[in-house]
Amino acid sequence: VRPVRLELEGFGAFNARTVLDFDGADLFAFTGPTGAGKSTLVDAMVFALYGSVPRYGDRRLVAPAISQGAAEARVRFDFTVDDVTYIAVRVVRRTKTGATTKEARLESAAGELLAGNEKELGQAVERLLGLEYDHFCKCVVLPQGRFAEFLHDRPEARQELLVELLDLGVYREMGRAARLRAAESAARATALAGRLDSLAWATPDRRAELAAAIDRLTALAAEIEAEQPVIDELGRRRAAAEADAAAAGQRSSVLARVRTPDGVAALASALDEAASTVDAAKADEEQAERATAEAERALTARPRRGALEETLRRLELRDGHLGQQEKGRRVRADLEDRVGHEAEGLARAERAAAEAEERLASVQRSHLAHAVADQLAVGRPCPVCLQTVTVVPVRTVPGDLDAGRRGQREARRGVDRARAEHQAAERELHTVEVTLASIERHLADLDDLAGVDPPAVRRQLAAVDEAERALDAARRAEQGARRIWRDADRRAQELRGREAAARTEFDRVRDRLTGMASALATAPPERTGALAADWDTLTGWAEAEAVDQERRAGDLACQVDELAEEQRRRVRDLAARCAGCDIEIDLDAVTAGRSPRDLVVDRLARSEAELDQVDEAIDEARTLTGGVERAREQGDVAVELGRHLAASGFERWLLDEALAVLVDGATDVLFGLSGGQYSLAVDPRSRNFAVIDHRNADQPRPARTLSGGETFLASLALALALADQLTLLAARGGARLESIFLDEGFGSLDPATLDVVASAIEELGAQGRMVGLISHVAELAERVPVRFVVDKVGTGASVERVDR
Ligand SMILES: Nc1ncnc2c1ncn2[C@@H]1O[C@H](COP(=O)(O)OP(=O)(O)OP(=O)(O)O)[C@@H](O)[C@H]1O
Ligand SMILES: [Mg+2]
Repeated sequence: VRPVRLELEGFGAFNARTVLDFDGADLFAFTGPTGAGKSTLVDAMVFALYGSVPRYGDRRLVAPAISQGAAEARVRFDFTVDDVTYIAVRVVRRTKTGATTKEARLESAAGELLAGNEKELGQAVERLLGLEYDHFCKCVVLPQGRFAEFLHDRPEARQELLVELLDLGVYREMGRAARLRAAESAARATALAGRLDSLAWATPDRRAELAAAIDRLTALAAEIEAEQPVIDELGRRRAAAEADAAAAGQRSSVLARVRTPDGVAALASALDEAASTVDAAKADEEQAERATAEAERALTARPRRGALEETLRRLELRDGHLGQQEKGRRVRADLEDRVGHEAEGLARAERAAAEAEERLASVQRSHLAHAVADQLAVGRPCPVCLQTVTVVPVRTVPGDLDAGRRGQREARRGVDRARAEHQAAERELHTVEVTLASIERHLADLDDLAGVDPPAVRRQLAAVDEAERALDAARRAEQGARRIWRDADRRAQELRGREAAARTEFDRVRDRLTGMASALATAPPERTGALAADWDTLTGWAEAEAVDQERRAGDLACQVDELAEEQRRRVRDLAARCAGCDIEIDLDAVTAGRSPRDLVVDRLARSEAELDQVDEAIDEARTLTGGVERAREQGDVAVELGRHLAASGFERWLLDEALAVLVDGATDVLFGLSGGQYSLAVDPRSRNFAVIDHRNADQPRPARTLSGGETFLASLALALALADQLTLLAARGGARLESIFLDEGFGSLDPATLDVVASAIEELGAQGRMVGLISHVAELAERVPVRFVVDKVGTGASVERVDR
């Protein structure tokens, strides 16, 4: 890192904005009185890069950097690395409890943002400079009071610094990579070996076994192909013989079951008997028919029953009419008498009525006279004669008028009654006369009966009754005879029906037997028409044939057994051959015609597939074996490399070498600076720095025994040697120690030594490296080409560049 420009404001003593321009300042000095702000400028540069201030002793502490009375500290540091310009800016703001970084960025000269925050800036700077903060403070900036840190460092800390400076981390990375690769190779070897183990089954023996099995199976498949048709043919023949035997047995049992039906023998005589019974009954029935006809003729010869009965009825009617006529005549005579008698009574009543009328009229007249007389007064005209009355006659009391009227009504009622009686008698008489006239007319109608003899008529009717009874009996006899005939006929018909059924049954049985005749020795006997005889012949024939069929069934059964045995033998042979190939077959299935060929072909296919697998596995195992060997070889190499590159191995050796070179370089410088008194060395046991005192018998002693000034010289020598040798030692360019800042230490030197040191430093400037000295020692500062004179200004500080 080479400073180009530093700008700070509110930082430490520099509360006002201050700018330093390092252009052309290869060797420069910050100079000024104690407490002026020289170290603050170095702090500002370190702070801009790393965000920490060395003297605070705490990397996180930033608040103390903000100027008292200021709110924020701002630093901008322009620098180059390998001639490329960068700008680092940091702004820290005061907070209630401390301070916080408000801005942190890294830009290129062209304004490109390379880091935008605190974290990114820190990482970018470490990457750019190749140095972390602690190491930066040991070999680029030797802060005031800490310049001897590298000289006095523990060997391990120094080793870390050198590793970083020399970029030896690359060997550590290589070691890590080698170890990683070793682990990977080991893992791969293990995995491959595992896979190889899993293929252990794929042996050449197994392969040979499979090949032999495939040969055997191929041969077996061919054998099965030849043998199965033979087995199947045997099966077919056996099945046919079985079927024939069963059919013969069946026929035998059918023939054995042929029997003459019960009653067939008795049926013929029963039929004859029934026929003669029918004939006899028929003759009887005809005889009865003739008898009936005879009885009918006898009845017809007689007078008709109706006429006879009519004659008798009319005779009885005539007798009735005669009786009534006689009785009517007697009644008429009586009624004639009664009419005469009633006529007399009526005449009497009429006379009595006339008398009663007369009496009433007389009484009424007397009452009228009496009434007129009452009105007569002497001197007054008579109402009747209109003559003046002279004397009023004396009058007796007139008769009873009411009695007269009652008598008149009585007499009239007597007339009415007598007339009604008389009229009633006359009506009755008239009725009787009408009746008698009617009887006489009826009797006139029956006049033809004169001369008829009723007993004769009754005798004739009795004869008719007799003839009718005879006819009835004849008809009943005829019906009886007909019933008997019909019963006999029915019986005969029934027998004929039975005979027909027996005949049908015979035909059925014979037809059935005829149906199997082709399989029998002889044909069934012909039918003759004599049913019983036919049945007997058929039964005898069937018995003989049944025996024959039974014998044939026996023969066929023997044949079946022979065929089955032959088939079984062949199937067993085949099974034995399959068993030789480890194939178990179902004997029944093979016997039933299901060929085991598929099983064999399937097994063959599987064996072939397995053979392919074995071949593949053997190939793979071969490849794997090579792979395992390669992985192990690679692993061994990587393990070896990792071991060599371990921190205690190659790196340690490299560091020791580097340290030796460094010590040589530093010795050169120190020898000059100390006026030939000291050389630098490394104590082989403690690995700490030691000095060899050439003025004291070249005795080595620890570097810590040096005085303050001597320590500064030794540190300076180391720092310069480090900067010199770094590019030479570094693995890939290493850190970029393009500048060095030495803050004080010079005050501890006497004038003569200071002169030597100053000369040495002047020489450094000429080597192209940038060197910044910080010192209040004016003599030293004045020998430097560019001075930044720092001064206190009130509460702050100011800087002024003074070029010589
Ligand atoms: N935050 C701050 N605000 C104000 N002043 C500060 C702050 N921090 C430190 N100072 C003061 O700034 C001044 C400059 O200090 P600095 O260490 O830079 O001095 P110097 O020039 O290096 O002195 P010396 O020669 O003694 O080493 C000192 O007086 C110091 O006390
Ligand atoms: Mg100081």
